Parts: sequence; C-alpha cells; structure tokens
Amino acid sequence: MAGKKMTLNPAGSHSIPAHVAIIMDGNGRWAQSRKMPRLAGHHEGVKTVERIIRAAAEANIQYLSLYAFSTENWKRPGSEIDGLMNLFRHFLKFKLPDLKKNGVRLLFSGRIDGLPDDLANEMKKVEEETSKSERITVTICVNYGGRQEIVDSVNRIIELGYAGLITEERISAAMYQPKIPDPDLVIRTSGETRLSNFLLWESAYSEFYFTEVLWPDFNGEELQKALTYYAGRERRYGSVKGA
Ligand code: IPE
Ligand code: IPE
Ligand code: MG
Repeated sequence: MAGKKMTLNPAGSHSIPAHVAIIMDGNGRWAQSRKMPRLAGHHEGVKTVERIIRAAAEANIQYLSLYAFSTENWKRPGSEIDGLMNLFRHFLKFKLPDLKKNGVRLLFSGRIDGLPDDLANEMKKVEEETSKSERITVTICVNYGGRQEIVDSVNRIIELGYAGLITEERISAAMYQPKIPDPDLVIRTSGETRLSNFLLWESAYSEFYFTEVLWPDFNGEELQKALTYYAGRERRYGSVKGA
C-alpha cells in the first residue's frame, strides 16, 4: 500500500495508537432500556464524549475521531434530528472554554455545509478558536459518510483541474482531514460489528475493537481495555512477521 499516511509500527506490544476513531453507538438502546426517550440517551452520550476526550488525552492519544451523525442519520424522525442538532449547538456553546483550557483542538469532518447555517458557522468558528491547541486533536464527524468523502475528494480533484491519473496520494490529499494520520484503532460500542459508512478509505489497515458496552456507559476503563487489545495486535500491512 502506497498511502502516504501508512506508518509501520514496529514498537509492538506496548504501542499506543496515535489515532483512535470511535463509532459512538447505543444511545437509543440505553435510553429505551430505561423507558426514557431516545434523546435522553444522546444527552447522556455527550457526557461520555467529554469523559473520553479527557481519558484519551491522558492516555497520550494524539488524534481522536468521533462519529456523531452519519449522512444516513437524516432518515431518523425529525424530532430526533432536531434534538441532536440542538445538542451539537449546546456542546459547542458551553464546552468551548473547557476544551480550550484542556488543550483540545476541535475539527469537524463531513458535509458541514449541509448542516443548518448557524451550526456550520459555529463549527468553523470553533475550529479557528482551538486551532492553536496541541494536547489532542478531536475530529467530530457530523453529516459524515465514508463513501461521500471519497466522492467529494474526487470531485475536488476534478474541480482543481489536476492533470494526470488519479493516485492514492491524490485522493488522500483531497480528503476532509488530509493532515491527520489514518486511524490505528477503530472502536464501535453497542455490539454492532459494522462500519456504517465510517472512514472507509482511512481504515484500510486499522485494527478493530467491538464492545457490547453502550456509548453512554463507555468510560476510561473501557477505553483502556480497547488500548490493551490494540497493544496485543501485530500489524503486518500485508507483509510477513519480522520482514
Ligand atoms: C448513536 O446512537 C448516536 C447516533 C447515531 C446519532 P444510536 O442513536 O444509533 O443508538 P441505538 O443504536 O439506536 O441504540
Ligand atoms: C452509526 O450508527 C452512526 C453514528 C454512530 C453516528 P447508526 O446507529 O446510525 O448505524 P446503523 O444504522 O446501526 O448501521
Ligand atoms: Mg445506532
């Protein structure tokens, strides 16, 4: 694989992933099992987001990507979508000082222009306001789809009028976050074992960790379990052991 972001990791069993990506799933089931509305689960899920950003920074993870809303999630009832958009608004408005204080750089990936204008503008503002933070870079994937990202990348290449053949490097360079390395570890909560259109291109050689724990119940200890699992994997990238 000739991808520019492919880094061989000879450090072996004690390695910490530079980039952890999480499919935050199970909010609805968490709420429903408590006879609460689904939105209550999303509300609780935001608390997990704060908890995991902190835990990831403490674990020296440099990049954390969080799947918050997919391009397919528009199929949900309008009331749930509105509730989620309001939660994003609330998060951006009230958590910004704390994020800045803790050295968190926030980025947003996805078709941001397809979101309500006020939210898209706020996201751009928060990206600027946290651009100097260096402790951890957190990318929130909103209105994000892995296939759409590849399509958007190719269209950007065409728009820019590149001559010559398409290469992996060219596609990678036109993705939403070209400077962020590919995820080393992808975690999905809630027992589902599918990608649901998350980071299709970037996860070509990622390790995968699936847990039954629902996102609102996920915590630092559960993250540590995923990191321990990761540390025990041997990444070969198509080669053979010891080559
Ligand atoms: C994940 O939780 C959050 C979003 C997709 C926005 P879900 O809402 O998918 O929760 P379940 O899968 O229905 O339990
Ligand atoms: C994936 O979860 C999207 C996010 C976590 C934002 P979904 O709950 O939407 O995925 P499916 O429908 O179970 O595949
Ligand atoms: Mg789900």
